[in-house]
Amino acid sequence: MIGTGYVGLTTGVCFAHLGHHVICQDIDEKKIQKLKNNENVIYEPDLDAFIHNGLKSGNLEFTHDMAKAVQQSDIIFICVNTPPKPDGHADLKYVEQVARDIAKHMNGYKVIIDKSTVPIRTAEKVKETINKYSKGDFKFDIVSNPEFLREGHAVYDILHPNRIVIGVENARSRDMMLELYTSFQNTPIKITSIKSAELIKHGANTFLATKISFANLIAEVCESAGANAKEVLEAIGLDERIGKYFLNPGIGFGGSCFPKDIKAFKKTLEIFGINHSLIDSIEDINNRAVDRFIKKIEKELWVLDGKRIAVLGLAFKPNTDDIRNSPAIKIIDALKKEGAKICAHDPKAMEKAKEIFNDIDYADNFYECVRGCDALVLCTEWDEYKKIDFNELKKLLITPIIFDGRNIIDKKIASDNGFVYFGIGG
Ligand code: UDX
Ligand code: UDX
Repeated sequence: MIGTGYVGLTTGVCFAHLGHHVICQDIDEKKIQKLKNNENVIYEPDLDAFIHNGLKSGNLEFTHDMAKAVQQSDIIFICVNTPPKPDGHADLKYVEQVARDIAKHMNGYKVIIDKSTVPIRTAEKVKETINKYSKGDFKFDIVSNPEFLREGHAVYDILHPNRIVIGVENARSRDMMLELYTSFQNTPIKITSIKSAELIKHGANTFLATKISFANLIAEVCESAGANAKEVLEAIGLDERIGKYFLNPGIGFGGSCFPKDIKAFKKTLEIFGINHSLIDSIEDINNRAVDRFIKKIEKELWVLDGKRIAVLGLAFKPNTDDIRNSPAIKIIDALKKEGAKICAHDPKAMEKAKEIFNDIDYADNFYECVRGCDALVLCTEWDEYKKIDFNELKKLLITPIIFDGRNIIDKKIASDNGFVYFGIGG
């Protein structure tokens, strides 16, 4: 595994769990040292125990040494990050660097896999790069094997995938990949061309983002016309052709994938001269979702200057400490700009948030967070926030106002308990 981030680490650890010998490499020496010492680098359910077991069994190794990682492996996964450039293109400089490094250290036949999310035709470029920089005369094959893991469920998703996509160009690499995935006998395995596999990943993420934006569009209509988005979307989702998942309106999608991947897909469409107004609309609706929420807060609280606001949830979704593109960040920024004082809480993401906001207060638990606040703003649907004790909350808040960005609190129960409640979608 080259790149031991959210994807490389969780994938490597799971392959070690399945009995393969895995070497996880990263340029970040500090991270590697921590992992060798069995210290936590990211929060992901079950990950720590799997790392512990992998190290103990000897199936899992961590190294900074690229030569060792390449030379001692038959199969090499490229899992480095592919961040967006200012123009939206996926920045492939890390992928290119890794391809050059692999070329430099090759010592025999290798299967080299693009696991990172990359635009269609990246594998071609990786192949060209390795050919260009390779010193020896070693054969290799490129494979595209996109990941579909959700942060917060990564270990579960890797071990229980709903499909495995393997894009190959010959039987040798296909057979090695099938051997690698031999324990997934009950999972549909789609063998495709490399380009199709690359497109499947961007296509799947764009479709999921489309569903979320559609749900947020319905929520907008409901708020304007006086309907209820929950009722509308539940009924729409009962149609099996549509499905109930990813139809929850809220403050929009964040994370390291959807925002970046739809931008990269838009660039791909642009390159092929294909109209990308669909993607523009998905982005617009997603931005409006968080902006509308901020406006609701501003309208209700009127003057924000000097008001103290409790922000519950900083991660872009529950069960992760990841705050990349989290809507909570945009919300905190907007409230701070108007002079509000913020007290924030998140079960796992506060350490990462402190790297961005060192001028807000952080509370150890959510009741401490709301004490003396003028309103509660809920940004992430952590399970513990679903069990709010309204009596306790009412004693702690100065004014009983709740802005629920994830619709986890029942509007009627909140009102019956004397709260002024604002959810999403009426
Ligand atoms: C991954 C994919 O790469 C991305 O394309 C996909 O859309 C989401 O998941 P992620 O695992 O979230 O990204 O990235 P990150 O957690 O930032 O980890 C990347 C790791 O690669 C870091 O540990 C970084 O130090 C390492 N890295 C980066 C290298 O080892 N070498 C490099 O040249 C660059
Ligand atoms: C996503 C894909 O699900 C995964 O298959 C892919 O490999 C990587 O990108 P991830 O970014 O970890 O995974 O999280 P996901 O659960 O998809 O949620 C993304 C964002 O959408 C979150 O901010 C979440 O809050 C939001 N979301 C999700 C909604 O707003 N409404 C929904 O109905 C579902």
